[in-house]
Amino acid sequence: MAIPFILDTDTAQDDCVAILLGVLDELADLRAVTMVAGNVGFDQQTNNALMTLSVAGALGEVPVFLGCRRPMVREWVSAENVHGDGAGGLSMDITGVSTESEHAVDALLRLTHEEPGELNIVAIGPLTNIAMAVVKDPDFPARVKHLYIMGGSNNARGNITAAAEFNFYVDPDAAKIVFDAGFDITVVPWEPLTVRDAIFSRAQMAEIGAQENPVAQFFQRVCETTLEFDESVGIPGSSHPDSLTVAVMLHPELVVKSAAYRVDIEADSELTRGYSAMSWGIHGLKPNARVIEDVDAAGFFSYIKSMMATKTAPSRAIIGL
Ligand code: BDR
Ligand code: CA
Repeated sequence: MAIPFILDTDTAQDDCVAILLGVLDELADLRAVTMVAGNVGFDQQTNNALMTLSVAGALGEVPVFLGCRRPMVREWVSAENVHGDGAGGLSMDITGVSTESEHAVDALLRLTHEEPGELNIVAIGPLTNIAMAVVKDPDFPARVKHLYIMGGSNNARGNITAAAEFNFYVDPDAAKIVFDAGFDITVVPWEPLTVRDAIFSRAQMAEIGAQENPVAQFFQRVCETTLEFDESVGIPGSSHPDSLTVAVMLHPELVVKSAAYRVDIEADSELTRGYSAMSWGIHGLKPNARVIEDVDAAGFFSYIKSMMATKTAPSRAIIGL
């Protein structure tokens, strides 16, 4: 049976791939997309999400809710130096396309009220919307079946600073609230997991892009800018942390190793802002998350390649594709 979930996203590059999986995988039942401030300008992210739904032929079928336009207490930090516009320069005429009028935080609360204990959330951006929902309604975590989070590093290097991964760095206050709120959590970290198991080489990217259909060509285009950035910082390929997070939920057989951890987020220091301390069980701390340690990298690539082979009829023309 398909897995019902809400995708909370700062749509750019691999967030687009995550949305595609939500629409294309028959095991996915994507109920809503909620937008949160992160990678690139908020309106650009929203357009990227709408365009991605369109490429998959699902524009208008999945509601898109606009959420928090900045972190809880801090200024927004952009990753435009990493992702460009997050869409590889592609665009779509959005005349007449509407997003929902309900705020994303209210939608999260309402949807989980309508189906308590049934809906999963996959959060692949800063955790602002999720934390705001907790602040508004402390019973929210009990109504969420499982929360999958892309963020942090497992006692390893960050990416935006030496200490911190981008999603937790941008809104560490939100991340702290979320890890203390009582959700059932699975974490897909940046290091070492993503950088070891979810990097596609240029040859692999070309292999996917050579498939003759809009989804495959869109995939290659939206990932190109980030691929160049990744290579410039010594990562030998295109990084896919967000789509890996969706894949871990839909295809748990890809998980080779995971363990219970106590995850705490640094929100006081400037030097280590957003650092995720992941205590692996020997420090007497009560676990609050399962952290993915190892996935089947070849299986993940095959899965993405097969999904990007799906033939779709885009809902609207994609300019530049
Ligand atoms: C995370 O930050 C963003 O740039 C990506 O979309 C991903 O969610 C990786 O650190
Ligand atoms: Ca993201």
